[in-house]
Amino acid sequence: MAEIVFEHVGKSFGDTKVIENLNLTIEDGKFTVLVGSSGCGKTTLLRMIAGIGPATYGRILMDGKDITHQPPEKRDIAMVFQNYAIYPTMSVRENIEFGLKNKKVPKAERDRRIAEYAEVVGMTPYLDRKPSDLSGGQRQRIALARAMVKKPSVFLMDEPLSNLDAKLRAAMRVELIELQRRLGTTFVYVTHDQIEAMSMADTIVLMEKGEIQQIGSPEEIYHEPANIFSAQFIGTPPMNIMELGDGIRYGIRPESLRMSPERMEGMVMYRKGHVVTREMLGAELQYKVRLSDGSTIMVKSENERDDVEEDIDVWVMAPSRHIHFFGADGKHLGHNGPQNLLDKLGGLNE
Ligand SMILES: Nc1ncnc2c1ncn2[C@@H]1O[C@H](COP(=O)(O)OP(=O)(O)OP(=O)(O)O)[C@@H](O)[C@H]1O
Ligand SMILES: [Mg+2]
Repeated sequence: MAEIVFEHVGKSFGDTKVIENLNLTIEDGKFTVLVGSSGCGKTTLLRMIAGIGPATYGRILMDGKDITHQPPEKRDIAMVFQNYAIYPTMSVRENIEFGLKNKKVPKAERDRRIAEYAEVVGMTPYLDRKPSDLSGGQRQRIALARAMVKKPSVFLMDEPLSNLDAKLRAAMRVELIELQRRLGTTFVYVTHDQIEAMSMADTIVLMEKGEIQQIGSPEEIYHEPANIFSAQFIGTPPMNIMELGDGIRYGIRPESLRMSPERMEGMVMYRKGHVVTREMLGAELQYKVRLSDGSTIMVKSENERDDVEEDIDVWVMAPSRHIHFFGADGKHLGHNGPQNLLDKLGGLNE
């Protein structure tokens, strides 16, 4: 059991206010991902949970108990850092054992846990090797095992996969999801990578400049973005955002647009465009299209259904259910309507 609650928490470094009046509940037993661009305060938040960077004001609760001023070693928490700092002169076994020895766990219990968690991370055959004889991904797993053997109630991870190549990162994502499911421990995972956030999270906490922009499941964040920031943070390429007038903007994801030399029936948006570039990305095709008003938008097609050549004229179209509207303050006004906005959008049709 470990639910973490931030109550009106603020954090400043000298005169610099990094986080102000933050309220957040991290659910017990869930995989929560804190995501946001560099400098938005993710590590600062994680350090407050770990107790290694105290809050300037407010309270942090763990299972209802105030831990705001509790020293880190009293918290039932393990943390894996971005630069996972394993000891090069120690074997894999000694690295995993290190924290347990410090905690004076008896030898038989240490051996039992090392065997258990080496198996969990798939490092059993390598226990007697030195880190220098392992790959980056294997070293990463030692860092994970070393944190896990402590059997924490909360597992904090700060960009633990950022040093790995793309292929290994994708494989480790799956392993971490599996691990969390198996352990049932509260995971709080920090990343600036929206794909990691989408793929692993039960709950995404999307941050910008120390403020929470949206909290929700990957599905909610993708389908019901709270504002333009959220809409453009998740998704590659980001959602196309265009002016509707009077401060209102509308947004359509590249993968929600249809494109063809012929007009298709049943759409609400019809704009003329010219294909500037075509990128073949394997399962997907991606296009940059210049509209007749000179603006450009991105179109993505997940199959060859809508494939067109470069440098031809096309219709760019969208059905109403995929169109999002945003107010002057950037907040989401709903999609698939409101009717007056759909009518207004229809007024731009060519
Ligand atoms: N010890 C410190 N002294 C002064 N400012 C700091 C300190 N630590 C962090 N900051 C500032 O606080 C802000 C948030 O930093 P933080 O490390 O939490 O960002 P982050 O979201 O983890 O970014 P990244 O993705 O780059 O790791 C930044 O503007 C940073 O410069
Ligand atoms: Mg950081």
